Amino acid sequence: MTDWISRWKNNRIGWHADQINSQLIGYLENLDLSAGETIFVPLCGKTKDMLYLLEKQINVIGVEMSSIAVEQFFLENNLSYSISKMDGFILYEGKGIRIYCGNYFDLECNHLQEVRAVYDRASLIALDEELRQKYVKHLNDIIADDVRILLLTLNYPQHQRSGPPFAVSRSEVDELFKGSFHSRELYCINDIENEPMFQNLGVDFVEKAVYLLQKVRV
Ligand SMILES: C[S@@+](CC[C@H](N)C(=O)[O-])C[C@H]1O[C@@H](n2cnc3c(N)ncnc32)[C@H](O)[C@@H]1O
Repeated sequence: MTDWISRWKNNRIGWHADQINSQLIGYLENLDLSAGETIFVPLCGKTKDMLYLLEKQINVIGVEMSSIAVEQFFLENNLSYSISKMDGFILYEGKGIRIYCGNYFDLECNHLQEVRAVYDRASLIALDEELRQKYVKHLNDIIADDVRILLLTLNYPQHQRSGPPFAVSRSEVDELFKGSFHSRELYCINDIENEPMFQNLGVDFVEKAVYLLQKVRV
């Protein structure tokens, strides 16, 4: 299992991007959010994508196990924040943003009551197969009916390199979310030419995909 805490301690955070994710910019409107509504960013790290969402007047709720990540997010982006304790989490709150520092699997519905959408970049694919199943089941348990999810995945021949990030195929997405979610693929391309690390390992292809999911009303 990945030791995320020591990765943050040792600054081994190769997934972190200094730029806003272009798929978020391109596909955010599919979430149909209005200013003042709230998006949940699970396993948020210190992603700048949260800043982009705040700039769009969208409120953000994140969860992240590393306090280094959360503190760096606020400090590096010059955002002021307060700290308190809540339900076993350390809660970091700034203008329009609340990050629960602790374990995603300890979040409950009451922490996400106002959430209308979810943004998942490098979260599902950060987890091994067994944890991915637990992650989706838990997400289903803690979000309300009708909530939309923008899910970004990578798929590549898993035998050619080990994760994270792990390969997640279209059929796995269908299987993970079936029954409780409608699912639509918005985008999928082989982007191997922009992935030198994968090329160096001899990986044949890297498919990048974006899905729009919506939790069905029961
Ligand atoms: C690959 S990083 C992606 C971060 C972010 N989504 C991004 O795009 O930069 C995965 C993050 O999930 C955090 N994480 C892993 N398991 C977690 C858990 N069970 N609860 C909370 N955070 C977790 C790690 O500390 C790490 O920051």
